[in-house]
Amino acid sequence: MSRVMFVDDDELLLYSWRRLFQGKYEVATAESGSQALEQLEQDGPCEVVISDFQMPCMDGAAFLEEVGSRYPDSIRIMLTGQALLETAMEAVNKGRVFRFLTKPCPRDLLDRAIRDSLHQHRLVQTEREYFALREWQKGLEGLAEALVRLVEFKDPYTAGHQRRVAQLAAAMARELGLPAEQVAQVELAASIHDLGKMYVPAEFLNKPGRLNPPEFEIIKLHARIGYEILKPIRFGFPIHDIVVQHHERLDGSGYPAGLRDGAISREARIIAVADVIEAISYHRPYRPAKGLEAALEEIHGGRGIRYDPEAAAAVERLFTKKGFFFLAGKQETGAAVAEGSVWSPRLKPMEGLP
Ligand SMILES: [Fe+2]
Ligand SMILES: [Fe+2]
Repeated sequence: MSRVMFVDDDELLLYSWRRLFQGKYEVATAESGSQALEQLEQDGPCEVVISDFQMPCMDGAAFLEEVGSRYPDSIRIMLTGQALLETAMEAVNKGRVFRFLTKPCPRDLLDRAIRDSLHQHRLVQTEREYFALREWQKGLEGLAEALVRLVEFKDPYTAGHQRRVAQLAAAMARELGLPAEQVAQVELAASIHDLGKMYVPAEFLNKPGRLNPPEFEIIKLHARIGYEILKPIRFGFPIHDIVVQHHERLDGSGYPAGLRDGAISREARIIAVADVIEAISYHRPYRPAKGLEAALEEIHGGRGIRYDPEAAAAVERLFTKKGFFFLAGKQETGAAVAEGSVWSPRLKPMEGLP
């Protein structure tokens, strides 16, 4: 229930207001400004504070000014028997009141002013929450960027791979008509989908030639490690579930859980296709690039078996009809895959580092 406070040195008036509004609101009353401030300190702020102007010790304007500085979200109303212009101006300028009412004030008018004040209070709160949420979102974006950079320091191959997978996965999500928010989620998840590779020793990640089965088992752990790293962070969507599923395949042949079909999230199915396209198209430490054609053949051959058929169709359309190409990132100097070139990393130290 909303809390409304009446402050007046007329005890009878306070009694009648309490009788009128108790039950509809949680009513607090005080006979002076100092008593009201004490109560607010003890019981917490009220959404609406209605004060008389002429009171002993502290007048209404000074009291409401103090309320405004201590509890800026409380909406203030001046209710006075003195309808002098000077009083009104002081109340508005010092007390920054929302409404100025004169006594005797009909119940309906006062009730309306309280309802308007509560509405105003909700607007202020909503605006505050919106800005807090934006700050929180900016923080999360910064955190995601920090995770991307962390991978860049440890393993520039993976960092470039993640950036390209994120570009392609976002384009696929758009091509599939996903709403903008979900496109952004796909892009964010793709940009850190291999985060778990931070755990994998660099000699395995960058090993030229084929990995033996035990080494491959260690590499496979990266999906679950990424899940464990991301799980405690509240991104507002289950990014950890998307990340852990990016190597799952529709026929259950993927890892780590061998999930099938609809058990794999749509976002993970999109990223899985983008991941395979990038991995085959580009140079890897253990093999040269096979090229885009081979990548598209793999997806085409596995559509509906290993890969989501809609995601497979979307990626084919993007490359063959919509002219998609990978944009070179700041650490990538190779030309676009769509132009048929082989990317080879020529890494530069990041800014500010030796
Ligand atoms: Fe991966
Ligand atoms: Fe990947």
